[in-house]
Amino acid sequence: MREECGKIERVEMSIWDCCELLNEYVDESDPDLDEPQIQHLLQTAEAIRKDYPDEDWLHLTALIHDLGKVLLHPAFGELPQWAMVGDTFPVGCAFDESIVDHKYFQENPDNKNPAYNTKYGIYSEGCGLHNVLMSWGHDDYMYLVVNENKSTLPLFGLFIIRYHSFYALHSKYALYSKSKVLIHVEKVKPYYLSLINKYFPAKLKWRCRS
Ligand SMILES: [Fe+2]
Repeated sequence: MREECGKIERVEMSIWDCCELLNEYVDESDPDLDEPQIQHLLQTAEAIRKDYPDEDWLHLTALIHDLGKVLLHPAFGELPQWAMVGDTFPVGCAFDESIVDHKYFQENPDNKNPAYNTKYGIYSEGCGLHNVLMSWGHDDYMYLVVNENKSTLPLFGLFIIRYHSFYALHSKYALYSKSKVLIHVEKVKPYYLSLINKYFPAKLKWRCRS
């Protein structure tokens, strides 16, 4: 799936247009979210903005953290939900018991492969998280897009985007900011457009399955 998403096909689209496109989707892996994605993005961003008013890069990071889900859209190759959403976890080493639905790894061939089923597997102790291959999802995809389009977001923003579904590490903001209070999109739009302008090119190139 990682290779398929890395095909040379590219869609050109701005960050905001992408937010609006994602609006048509609800993440099936999310049991208590029945609102459109743009509300989830804005509610998370506005909650963080309230707590850290001076960290504008963090507001933008929150806004775009789930944009990788755009690969679910037909215009981006319409990947199945299982391939893009849900928790992420390291592969190439034993599946930790803290991973959600750990019992299903019984059926996974990696579970029986002695190269992969030990504590460190293909890695060595202290090798660094950036050297660990994570299961594929919208996190790693969005990290790829942000990097390829030469965003000036600080490294910590990139870290959040890349690992926010890594249950053992992720911040709880995205989960706890899901309120039923709808954000007035047009009211906050100019603020987020100014941040997009500051940290991103006008149009981004998005890799996708052809
Ligand atoms: Fe996410």
